[in-house]
Amino acid sequence: MALTGLVLAGFVLGHMTGNLLMFKSPAAINAYAKWLHENVALLWTARTVLIISVFAHIWVGIQLTLENRAARAGGPAAEATRRATIGSRTMPYSGVVILGFVVFHLLHFTLKAVALGDVAYGDDVYKMVVAGFSCKTVAVFYIISMLLLCLHLSHGVSSVFQTLGLRNERWRGRLDVLALAYAWIVALGFISIPLAVLTGCLK
Ligand code: HEM
Repeated sequence: MALTGLVLAGFVLGHMTGNLLMFKSPAAINAYAKWLHENVALLWTARTVLIISVFAHIWVGIQLTLENRAARAGGPAAEATRRATIGSRTMPYSGVVILGFVVFHLLHFTLKAVALGDVAYGDDVYKMVVAGFSCKTVAVFYIISMLLLCLHLSHGVSSVFQTLGLRNERWRGRLDVLALAYAWIVALGFISIPLAVLTGCLK
């Protein structure tokens, strides 16, 4: 879980940072997208690593959820489960919504199978993103999904520290703050784009 979680958490930070080029200029985000598509070897290596990580993450996540359910039947683990944070208790649910979001997102922006409005954008990624978020329902769906991503990441990142054996009594507090900050930076970075389109700052 830790390795796949690390790969996916690293990807979302990188993807969010790249997306912020939307605020620089249409030319900047379009040049970035063009560069990514032209580097076929890099693109397909990243895609392969991502696909393997997503499937492995889901598989281990299901095992963990089933083990937790079985442990909840009684004993000391039941007490530990009751004390768990909301982020930890909702991991399977936030995970399922994020998966649904990613499927929609790929259909929307990568496969361009979701037609919204009658804007023709061709290879213009800037125009495609603005057209996509001009639909309020889609923009709100993205924002809600990013808030759930924040919840999922905040618990996920602190669990990685736990697995690495770093989250001891001395460091627990500081590492939990670090995980929460990471989750909010990623979520707010993503949210800024649909929000900027909704408020007319990006058009
Ligand atoms: C406001 C939020 C987001 C925006 C504006 C956005 C934007 C985009 C755009 C424009 C593309 C297509 C790039 C291209 O083909 O040139 C893309 C691809 C993708 N996005 Fe996002 N994204 C957002 C959030 C996310 C999140 C939260 C995830 C994962 C949890 C994600 C995962 C992906 C993946 C896996 C791809 C496919 C990359 C590939 O072509 O292999 N995105 N995104």
